[in-house]
Amino acid sequence: MLSLNAVSVVYPGERMAIHPTTLAFAPDQFTVILGPSGAGKSTLLRTLNGLVRPSSGAVTVDKLGELVGRLRMRRHRASTAMVFQQHHLIGRISVLRNVLMGRLGYYSTARSLLPLPRRDHLIAMESLDKVGLADVALVRADTLSGGQQQRVGLARALAQQPGLILADEPVASLDPATARRALTLLHDICKRESIAAVVSLHQVDLARDFADRIVGLSRGRVVFDGEPGDLNQQQLDHIYH
Ligand SMILES: Nc1ncnc2c1ncn2[C@@H]1O[C@H](COP(=O)(O)OP(=O)(O)O)[C@@H](O)[C@H]1O
Ligand SMILES: [Mg+2]
Repeated sequence: MLSLNAVSVVYPGERMAIHPTTLAFAPDQFTVILGPSGAGKSTLLRTLNGLVRPSSGAVTVDKLGELVGRLRMRRHRASTAMVFQQHHLIGRISVLRNVLMGRLGYYSTARSLLPLPRRDHLIAMESLDKVGLADVALVRADTLSGGQQQRVGLARALAQQPGLILADEPVASLDPATARRALTLLHDICKRESIAAVVSLHQVDLARDFADRIVGLSRGRVVFDGEPGDLNQQQLDHIYH
């Protein structure tokens, strides 16, 4: 369980990006964050893994306590994987080496400069297999299609063996059919492996189809929090002003 307790975020020289917000994310739950551009979706996700520090309030992780200090932050990040829209792959190296980067959080900086143990290679290959890309493990990452690269980004996240995946508009740059396939894959793997997910999306139809829970953000405030079946047109209008 990961929770925000009265967390607000103010960027330097900006208005409040997140107004004081209290939210808890249960293990196994697939949560979708919906909201227009600028609503605070990315800020909320970055707060959940400590990339953005709350201006007030606290982020708390079940087994670690409040997310403060380098050691706790490092532990939390090791077990929390991020998936991005611009999957942040390194194009000129192999798919496998990109996926191996998911293992680096488990090593010190100095150790991570040396070749990783065989076990990490096995975990990386298994992760590629889960996204159906084991056969292109040794291919340069930049030779893959956008949809495939997105799946490599997911494999890298899985190689971290995370308890939680945070995905910031992971399918925004894909065409609708590819986006749906990519989200189906993410959803099915999270369910099968009991990984909690918090995923921001801007497609309402995808949110409805995949979310256990939808959190609607508008101008840095939670204006809806419930199951997809409870999200009616009036509430959608509220989220999207
Ligand atoms: N690094 C930053 N510095 C200053 N302001 C930021 C930064 N990132 C986001 N913001 C502002 O915070 C608000 C929320 O942004 P963001 O979390 O990116 O929303 P979303 O992901 O929903 O589009 C916006 O007003 C945005 O301009
Ligand atoms: Mg964003």
